[in-house]
Amino acid sequence: MRLAGSNVLVTGGAGFIGSHLVDALAGLKCRVRVLDDLSNGREENLGLHFGDRRFKFMKGNVCDPADVARAMEGVDAVFHLATLGVRHSIGHPFLNHRVNAEGTLLVLEEARRAAVKKFIYCSSSEVYGTARYVPMNEEHPTNPCTVYGAGKLAGEAYARAYWLTYGLKTVIIRPFNTFGPRSHHEGDSGEMIPKSIVRSLAGEPVLIFGDGLQTRDFTFVEDTAAGLVEAARCDGLEGGTFNMGNGSERTILDVARTVIRLAGDGRSRIKFLKGRPGDVLRLYAGSEAFRKKTGWKPSVSFAEGLKKTIRWFKSRGEIRVLMNEEKGANW
Ligand SMILES: NC(=O)c1ccc[n+]([C@@H]2O[C@H](COP(=O)([O-])OP(=O)(O)OC[C@H]3O[C@@H](n4cnc5c(N)ncnc54)[C@H](O)[C@@H]3O)[C@@H](O)[C@H]2O)c1
Repeated sequence: MRLAGSNVLVTGGAGFIGSHLVDALAGLKCRVRVLDDLSNGREENLGLHFGDRRFKFMKGNVCDPADVARAMEGVDAVFHLATLGVRHSIGHPFLNHRVNAEGTLLVLEEARRAAVKKFIYCSSSEVYGTARYVPMNEEHPTNPCTVYGAGKLAGEAYARAYWLTYGLKTVIIRPFNTFGPRSHHEGDSGEMIPKSIVRSLAGEPVLIFGDGLQTRDFTFVEDTAAGLVEAARCDGLEGGTFNMGNGSERTILDVARTVIRLAGDGRSRIKFLKGRPGDVLRLYAGSEAFRKKTGWKPSVSFAEGLKKTIRWFKSRGEIRVLMNEEKGANW
């Protein structure tokens, strides 16, 4: 579909990936509306856009029918990203399910009522659980290890059902791990790379939960956002499910060492702690189907992306303040 000039809704648009997606859509001259309850997102992430007449921020909850119906008025395309995270699901399984699964069902239903033309559901590689073979294509079995992964998989099932039952043009995208500026170091949203950057800049030990031989497939956030745009722009993906990842695997130990080398004075130690509950041991994306259909491919290397991320954390001011928000074992 032609996105330029269209009305798009981004749920979770004040968050890490969502705000980069808003930047990309604004660059395409879309009229962008964000629905976010700011539970983990930040208005600062959208600072560029306040004051732009094509942009509207709506503080609201994807579990509230009135909020979602209001946000959906006149919308051509929806990017549904609002989510509570993996570690959050360990301590709060029911709330996590409510937002990730039931919230998705509500957003789909309001999109159907509003006759939305395209619905991009941002799922996650966490639906797979640990790899049984690599690279993991879309036929790989789904065995989520956490309530988060299970809730994202339920959201996928609802998105597929809305295509098959009602003809709502849904596209399911499974991004693998994403990193970059605006990522979370704090509380139970904190992810390995931003947590390690903050600890390294503060001269504190970088934490590894388990033996560090777990692997992940990392994509820079601007590439992830560009992929979500392509998922909406490219026709013929409706009803489909697509992986979106870099196509390489990296151990957590290697990531920790690289962060220590690039951030701080390079002298932080690594501290090994007991493994995380429900931790996925291996992820390595096979994204051939998505690449072939859309022409998308990541353009930012891991080292380049890491340097940009470190620069962003340095620009945020007092590192001790960030360090106080970093919760170590955050579940
Ligand atoms: N970060 C990754 O590595 C990664 C990997 C794969 C998939 N994803 C998916 O990408 C999407 C965005 O993730 P992110 O990393 O940017 O997370 P994030 O926490 O930064 O963004 C999620 C946003 O949703 C908002 N939100 C939470 N509950 C809400 C509610 N009830 N109503 C309205 N808004 C609500 C939060 O305030 C936040 O701004 C999610 O769908 C996630 O599953 C992320």
